[in-house]
Amino acid sequence: MMRRLLATAAFAFVLACNTLDSRSAAQGVAATPATNSRTGIYDPALDARVDALLRKMTLEEKVGQLVQYSAGQPTGPGTGRTDYEDMIAKGQIGALFNIATAKDTNKYQRLAVEKSRLKIPIVFGLDVIHGFRTTFPVPLALASTWDPPLVEQTARIAAREASATGVRWTFSPMVDIARDARWGRMTEGAGEDPYLGSVMAAAYVRGYQGSRLDAPDSVAATAKHYVGYGAAEAGRDYNTTEISEHTLRQIYLPPFRASVDAGVATIMSAFNTLNGVPTSANPFMLRNILRDEWGFRGVVDSDWESVRELIQHGVAVDRETAALKGFMGGVDMDMASSVYHDHLVGLVRAGKVPEARIDESVRYVLRLKYALGLFEKPYADAARERKAMLRPDAVTLAKTAAERSFVLLKNAPVQGEPLLPLAARAKRIALIGPLADDLPSALGSWPGMGKAEDVAPLHTALAKRVGEQNFVHHKGVGVTGGSDEDLSAAVSAAGSADVVILALGESSQTMTGEAASRAFLGLPGRQQELLEKVVATGKPVVLVLFSGRPLTLPWAFEKVPAVLAVWQPGVQTGPAIVSTLFGESNPSGRLVVSWPRSVGQLPLYYNALNTGRPANKNDLTKPIGPPEDKYVSKYIDESNDPQFPFGYGLSYTNFRYGPVDISGGGLKAAELTKALTDGGKSVLTASADVTNTGPRPGEEVVQLYVRLIGTSMAQPVRSLKGFERVALAAGETKKVAFALKPEAFALWNDRHQWVVEPSKVAVYISADSATGSPALFEISE
Ligand code: NOJ
Repeated sequence: MMRRLLATAAFAFVLACNTLDSRSAAQGVAATPATNSRTGIYDPALDARVDALLRKMTLEEKVGQLVQYSAGQPTGPGTGRTDYEDMIAKGQIGALFNIATAKDTNKYQRLAVEKSRLKIPIVFGLDVIHGFRTTFPVPLALASTWDPPLVEQTARIAAREASATGVRWTFSPMVDIARDARWGRMTEGAGEDPYLGSVMAAAYVRGYQGSRLDAPDSVAATAKHYVGYGAAEAGRDYNTTEISEHTLRQIYLPPFRASVDAGVATIMSAFNTLNGVPTSANPFMLRNILRDEWGFRGVVDSDWESVRELIQHGVAVDRETAALKGFMGGVDMDMASSVYHDHLVGLVRAGKVPEARIDESVRYVLRLKYALGLFEKPYADAARERKAMLRPDAVTLAKTAAERSFVLLKNAPVQGEPLLPLAARAKRIALIGPLADDLPSALGSWPGMGKAEDVAPLHTALAKRVGEQNFVHHKGVGVTGGSDEDLSAAVSAAGSADVVILALGESSQTMTGEAASRAFLGLPGRQQELLEKVVATGKPVVLVLFSGRPLTLPWAFEKVPAVLAVWQPGVQTGPAIVSTLFGESNPSGRLVVSWPRSVGQLPLYYNALNTGRPANKNDLTKPIGPPEDKYVSKYIDESNDPQFPFGYGLSYTNFRYGPVDISGGGLKAAELTKALTDGGKSVLTASADVTNTGPRPGEEVVQLYVRLIGTSMAQPVRSLKGFERVALAAGETKKVAFALKPEAFALWNDRHQWVVEPSKVAVYISADSATGSPALFEISE
């Protein structure tokens, strides 16, 4: 479909979009306005400097700016090159990555700035994904805070630390929508929702890039992987994707659009094919949408060798055609594969690549370097580097971020009281399980320069809290493997305690992140056996679940009284878990992915279409219906419902929602469609009273969902369009109001336009995506 559009209707299509200005609607976000979107790479003052330098450059030097290598440890197949120093002196390298000390970056920078003819500085990059040295919770956990200012602050600190070493470019945020927990990279993103994903994307960009890209503590951000990478078929990393334009526009593109609107400096193309066209050679996505429609003026970087991989995709016959297709498809810079270095000059000389196109890409790279202030200040300051890492404010933020990211999944009564927070009766505690002291796993995938020894471990924090004399710690089994003797010893240790804390889950290094798709999502190794034997002791058990994705644990959710999902919490793992178990911190994280009951339900997401034969008449609170419901969209052997819905999470207190009140109204579709271009005004307010009915203060994430009925294209049963974190004292009620803009009611129609259509609208204000009663109103002609 993409290709056909490109061939037949590209110009009409681009025009239609420009007239409509799909900007705000595509973004679908009422986020804080970006502070830097019209500065940084967009600063018009850069034009003259860029042009002046470009005029002095030879074709070889221009191509050099489009070449990027890993000079440190590789994170993919290597290029085999070792002659970086020579190449830099000849102006053949524009960017390096995977080195991250002031000493190393300065060494290479000196060659560029002192030895190369035009003295163009190198830009150094790194995967700074959830912190540089201060490792924060993994991005899936950070998103589970539903706290964009906090996420922005974590990115700011990551930028402060990274930039001190000369790293001025991070390959983050990953803004891929993930609907399939088998995909290991779900851990790197903000989950399944385009609205939340957009808000988080913009928060990261603001945090990394700060208010000025040329401030010494700012780094250029990268929105990746453009686009659809998270829709890898069967959750298998790098696999094919097929996404209709409608779904692309409404689900997969918005977080990229939000990144561009927030001023993101670079975009990384992806590994996957999208509807048959590799995303690293996809002019429709990279040129028509990203450049022409959205006006992006930053660098498009490939992923690791993704241009060379056009050969494996079967769209290039050799390295030269890979370079040709990748470059003409819209990828400016070639990460790691060397095909631009080897072939672009020849392709220009052969008349296959216009030099004007090379100039365009080089301009983007030079703009980035000028915007970062690299020409003025090319070197890292080793004195700043020495003082930059793990500063107290960073470590304190890491603890808050971890606490806010924890999702309390279950908290059943034991002897009449919810098991958590642990009461005074819990004198003697047994901590059991392989994740209790697995420090690399606590860091999560892509730990940056984070070190295991920086992690405050759970066993130390817990022992300190309850006193060594009341504490017993036993690993029991490994994440995988383990002996009968150790297992029995752990079970006896459990039997000697008042309460057992079981720390189980995945190892982050081998089981989450890139190239870590899983076909089975239960507890690996002998952990399920350990869990069942510990539960059989009859002692109250708290399962503290470490994972980079939801795990399918129906037995645990039925039999274990309390389950706390802690993801991979980073350097403050121990203190954050202990403060939560004992109630100094009240859990307020909410799920950003639908938690599956079984792998057979995947892909699973709340914002699904209703189908013509919905099970349970779309009442998600009811179990599968009686046999007369046979011919409906369901499994014969599994519920349709997730174990826990998107947006779900318990607290140590309870919240009650009042009815939804709508004020505004009299909305007309044509007027709202026109208003999509004016980007600002709200047209309707929806509000509800939320009361803390429980015994202690707590924070609730109040969520607003919309459903459109009667539209030209089937729309999701619910779509998140707003949320607010609200602190409520015990007994307190607050009216929570959402001012909705026209984009909350917009859809991408089959004529390739963002429109608001006459429809019935249901508005929910609720604690998650599966509960609440809607208020209804109409949008007329
Ligand atoms: C491959 C990954 O897909 C990408 O996310 C990462 O930024 C690059 N390698 C560089 O390490």
